[in-house]
Amino acid sequence: MAFLGIDLGTSGLRVLLVSNSEEVIGAVSREYQTSYPYEGWAEQAPQLWLDALNEALAELKDKHSEFVTIAGIAVSGHMHGAVLVDRHDEIIRPCILWNDTRSHIEAAEMDEIPAFQTLSGNIVFPGFTAPKLEWLRKHEPENYQRIAKVVLPASYLNWYMTGQYTIDKSDASGTAWLDVGKRDWSNELLALGNMQAQQMPALVEGCESAGMLRPDLAQKWGLSDQVIIAGGAGDNAAAACGIGAMKKGQGFVSLGTSGVLLLAQDSYRAAPETALHTFCHAIPQRWYQMGVMLSATNSLNWLASISGKSPAELTDALGEDLRAPSAEYFYPYLSGERTPHNDTNIRAAFTGLSTQTTLDMMTQSVLEGVAFGLRDSAEAMKKNGTVIQTLYAIGGGARSTYWLKLIATVLNIPLQVPRDGEYGAALGAARLAKIAVTGETVDSVIVSPKNTEEITPVAELVELFDQQYFAFQSGYPALKSL
Ligand code: XUL
Repeated sequence: MAFLGIDLGTSGLRVLLVSNSEEVIGAVSREYQTSYPYEGWAEQAPQLWLDALNEALAELKDKHSEFVTIAGIAVSGHMHGAVLVDRHDEIIRPCILWNDTRSHIEAAEMDEIPAFQTLSGNIVFPGFTAPKLEWLRKHEPENYQRIAKVVLPASYLNWYMTGQYTIDKSDASGTAWLDVGKRDWSNELLALGNMQAQQMPALVEGCESAGMLRPDLAQKWGLSDQVIIAGGAGDNAAAACGIGAMKKGQGFVSLGTSGVLLLAQDSYRAAPETALHTFCHAIPQRWYQMGVMLSATNSLNWLASISGKSPAELTDALGEDLRAPSAEYFYPYLSGERTPHNDTNIRAAFTGLSTQTTLDMMTQSVLEGVAFGLRDSAEAMKKNGTVIQTLYAIGGGARSTYWLKLIATVLNIPLQVPRDGEYGAALGAARLAKIAVTGETVDSVIVSPKNTEEITPVAELVELFDQQYFAFQSGYPALKSL
């Protein structure tokens, strides 16, 4: 018996085939493009995902005879995207993605209505789904009139595979229409968002069955007609499942395009005033909280692109020993910011530059700015009563030992870095599929990585970085008024 985890990411789709004992049998990926028709807009045609999925599966099947033993499939998807479907199941327009900020005015208007924060537990961020639908109501009324269902990216793949509209609760949490504490659609929020309950997919837990693979697809892909599709998850919940972050205080720092500090929660404890996100986890009766910064590795990539170096060249030039805080500050708001500022219009800045400033110093301050952004989220978690117990480091940026030492020191907590094997969102999805098929317990399937390296804070620099963090924070008001 084998399980398939599909990681539907923003830049590409990856399929991961694992055995019943979680050995990796194979992985295949396909890339696709995002279109940016206007500043602040980001769209993808859902057909790109279906093409990528079909191509990736054909390659996986060719390479691995175990493919035919797949018993369960689940999808991890990039969150919040509005996929609009008409009553003939046809896509109405390209999906408006999570990083599209066109609906920031609608988001601010909705956020003024107290019920949104009270029931959904979250600020209505411009990236969330509900304000996108308000934008469509105002600006594309013909498209809006045709909407029979609003689904999210992972949920759309669930429909493609099962023929039924389902969504898991972790992904549904990012719409602003879900009562996150009750884990159910809120009729009040739907009405306030001018939506109807029948336009929503049916809710399932991530590790429950969402339906069976459609017989015609089973035949096309060469699979049995008994394959179960599990509910799946939003990408951060799936990554938490991949790393075994289930219990209160267990979590990860993810250094991807965006940066995330995520901690699992045993109970629902919203804190919208901190701009933390509080979402259902992909398993029953668990939640998680996360702070999201929009430009993590993206900040380093930007510096790389304008300096003609690669990101690795920039970080390698700093060596491995952590330096004392730099004299320069970098505010990493290249694309606005979610946690802690919830500000679409704020932009990044370097301050403290002098004639002595070198490219290395600028690299150092970029890495520090991102670390301070994560510290903002850690402080919000602390204020909300969550103590970090175990923190893993994942994502492309985790390849820089310098950056990891810096983050461990700025957060003053050791980071666990998984050294081999799989531990990402695709594995998390495969684990959800396994639970849905076998009925095994969550605790026996969603476990921590076996082989990790610990990166400890550099004790003699902790206080200096504390001071630097407070100085960084005090620079924010000036930036806001620019
Ligand atoms: C989470 C978020 C991103 C996307 C894309 O709120 O917007 O993590 O899911 O990865």
